[in-house]
Amino acid sequence: MSEHINVFDFETLARTRIEPHAWDYISGGAEDEITLRENRAAFERVLLRPRYLVDISTRDLSTTVLGTKIPFPLLLAPTGYQTLSHPEGECETARGAGAAGIPMLLSTVSTRSLEDVARAATGPLWYQLYMMNDASINEWLVRRAERNNYRAIVLTVDVIVAGNRERDRRNELSFAQVHVDNLLARTDDAPAAIINATHYNDLPWKENLSWRDVEWLRQQTALPILVKGILTREDAEIALEHGCAGIVVSNHGGRQLDGAPASLDALPEIVDAVGSQIEIYLDSGVRRGTDILKAVALGARAVCIGRPYIWGLAVDGARGVQRVIEILKSEFDTAMALTGKRSVRELDRSVIWKPSQR
Ligand SMILES: Cc1cc2nc3c(=O)[nH]c(=O)nc-3n(C[C@H](O)[C@H](O)[C@H](O)COP(=O)(O)O)c2cc1C
Repeated sequence: MSEHINVFDFETLARTRIEPHAWDYISGGAEDEITLRENRAAFERVLLRPRYLVDISTRDLSTTVLGTKIPFPLLLAPTGYQTLSHPEGECETARGAGAAGIPMLLSTVSTRSLEDVARAATGPLWYQLYMMNDASINEWLVRRAERNNYRAIVLTVDVIVAGNRERDRRNELSFAQVHVDNLLARTDDAPAAIINATHYNDLPWKENLSWRDVEWLRQQTALPILVKGILTREDAEIALEHGCAGIVVSNHGGRQLDGAPASLDALPEIVDAVGSQIEIYLDSGVRRGTDILKAVALGARAVCIGRPYIWGLAVDGARGVQRVIEILKSEFDTAMALTGKRSVRELDRSVIWKPSQR
């Protein structure tokens, strides 16, 4: 399919498949979209040191994430409301991720229940938690994730209030018609607040999230806990003190604090502070195999993509998701070869072209 040479080709096609207000919701960022643009600009600013005459004829792209071997350093970031892009939503994404052997992080605001997604999935699943101001709901979500073999809990910490996304406000976007099946799942053990809610927006979203909630979560589950949305050395150090297994350096794809730095720019200080003690993941703006190489060289264990797999999902369901992943894998492989690297373990800051070398 020559029209799908890179993930941007999927973006162009996806735009014709997704309803315009949903498109704005998916592609947009907060306020002036400074951070949204920075995410791409940061990757474009970082250049690479090509090294040749190294025998790269056999290359091993695999790595491990929380002890699980994966084919190359990529995971699917949690994104909500996927039935906006495909009628099967998150189940279809899980099929595509599984076919490519890549872990999928399932959002709390999933339009398919975490049970349905677990049934559809053939690969590893991690569960992304948004906390509510009702411990019984949080506990119920964690128990369900455990029962359905999700392997980690990823607590997203950067949505204590919704980012100011002006495209959505101008469009008067409302999710009145969207069924967030995961939150309204009427399981036998569903707490009263869930049974009584008619729309997921009736639920008590937690604005007073604090490190105490991370402590609480650790007492609830033996699953590894990651915090997603960290952008500073200070918060990374506190995450380490609280026994987190990992952090996701992320600005939520430019959708929360406009003016926050690109995740790639935030990464080095975090790696220097806690990199040897905790797994560090990165998302926001990854669109190329060379982006994966740059982030891993700067100390990320793996990266996550958000919008690119949504584009694949909208264009061709599970096959589209799988194809987006395969494109990135092939580009990553080429980038490894052209920087003289045979395995992911060999990627370090020596791959990065320093400004003084310009
Ligand atoms: C449409 C959309 C929905 C999202 N929903 C969630 C969510 O439910 N939970 C979450 O932790 N992050 C959510 N995110 C943020 C992603 O997990 C990720 O941080 C971001 O998409 C990465 O940037 P990228 O899209 O440039 O790859 C969402 C992002 C998008 C684009």
